[in-house]
Amino acid sequence: MTEAILLVGGKGTRLRPLTVHTPKPMVPAAGVPFLTHQLARAKAAGVEHIVLATSYLAEVFEPYFGDGSALGLHLEYVTEEEPLGTGGAIRNVASRLHSGPQDPVLVFNGDILTGLDIRKLVHTHETAGADVSLHLTRVTDPRAYGLVPTDATGRVQAFLEKPQTPEEIVTDQINAGAYVFRRSVIDTIPAGRPVSVERETFPDLLAAGAHLQGMVDSTYWLDLGTPRAFVRGSADLVLGRAPSPAVPGRCGDRLVLPSASVADDAKLTGGTVIGEHAVIGAGARISGSAVLAGAVVEPGAVVTDSLVGAGAQVGARAVLDGVVVGDRAAVGPDNELREGVRVWCEARIPAGAVRFSSDQ
Ligand code: GTP
Repeated sequence: MTEAILLVGGKGTRLRPLTVHTPKPMVPAAGVPFLTHQLARAKAAGVEHIVLATSYLAEVFEPYFGDGSALGLHLEYVTEEEPLGTGGAIRNVASRLHSGPQDPVLVFNGDILTGLDIRKLVHTHETAGADVSLHLTRVTDPRAYGLVPTDATGRVQAFLEKPQTPEEIVTDQINAGAYVFRRSVIDTIPAGRPVSVERETFPDLLAAGAHLQGMVDSTYWLDLGTPRAFVRGSADLVLGRAPSPAVPGRCGDRLVLPSASVADDAKLTGGTVIGEHAVIGAGARISGSAVLAGAVVEPGAVVTDSLVGAGAQVGARAVLDGVVVGDRAAVGPDNELREGVRVWCEARIPAGAVRFSSDQ
């Protein structure tokens, strides 16, 4: 049986200012809580048992996913009293694992959307006889990431902090947030205190002579760390660029959940998703955006690359581009909001209050 640990706690768990009571993994992406895509992809790769390691708003996961049987999985939940970091969270769930000491245990960061071939990562791990194997991805600008150089056989040589100078960019390979641990290695992580896998566990293992194997896989990969990335990920799921068996419908230019109401002449493109009971008015144009459950986009509004929170309202003729509208917030008619604007949950912007266009 293949088992996995899914890390869904820690500091970056909120998608501020979109939600107050919903942790990021539960925010819908392509119509279902983001976590559903990860669970369904793991299941499709043969994983049967998954332990969810969390530290924040834990109470929302179990009522939704239950014992996992609806997804064909056996799910368990472990909540940390204080966030234990990535390594600490893995160590903290060790007692829930059923694998033998030599068996592979998968670990996934909960905020990554990827087309990783999970079976191939396990296969690579077993063929190499590694202690830990890591999915590595290549990025064009590695400055924001820790770097993971490997030798010609894929064996990891170092874990380097974010490069400060051009000379320090020795590779474009970064840790992509999916690992296979030999089960017995998990017990070597110190228990009961915060531990970072990247800053402590992996460097310590390397220093002790352990075999860490990297698998560079240039499939779809997106870190959903920012609301902007989250919108992109949702659209890519709808478009089919990011593969997931959990998208509730056919992949294409748009996904409209059955209970939503969309005016005949509204135009939905670029992987836009319209959530349950959302209402889209006449002549609205929505592209590359996620409109969550119960939101209303009034006639003539133009929404591009934006996230409209649950129960939020976008007024008539408003123009939104690269914007996050928090749950139940209201953007009045004729506003123009551009790149980076985040409207807090329940905030109200009066009609015609904000524009970016010039006086001409
Ligand atoms: P450390 O490696 O512990 O320093 O964490 P990090 O801040 O570098 O990790 P990052 O924020 O990239 O998070 C990676 C994944 O681990 C995300 O899915 C987080 O939700 C999850 N995560 C981070 N910290 C914790 C934690 O303290 N507990 C749990 N359960 N998950 C965490």
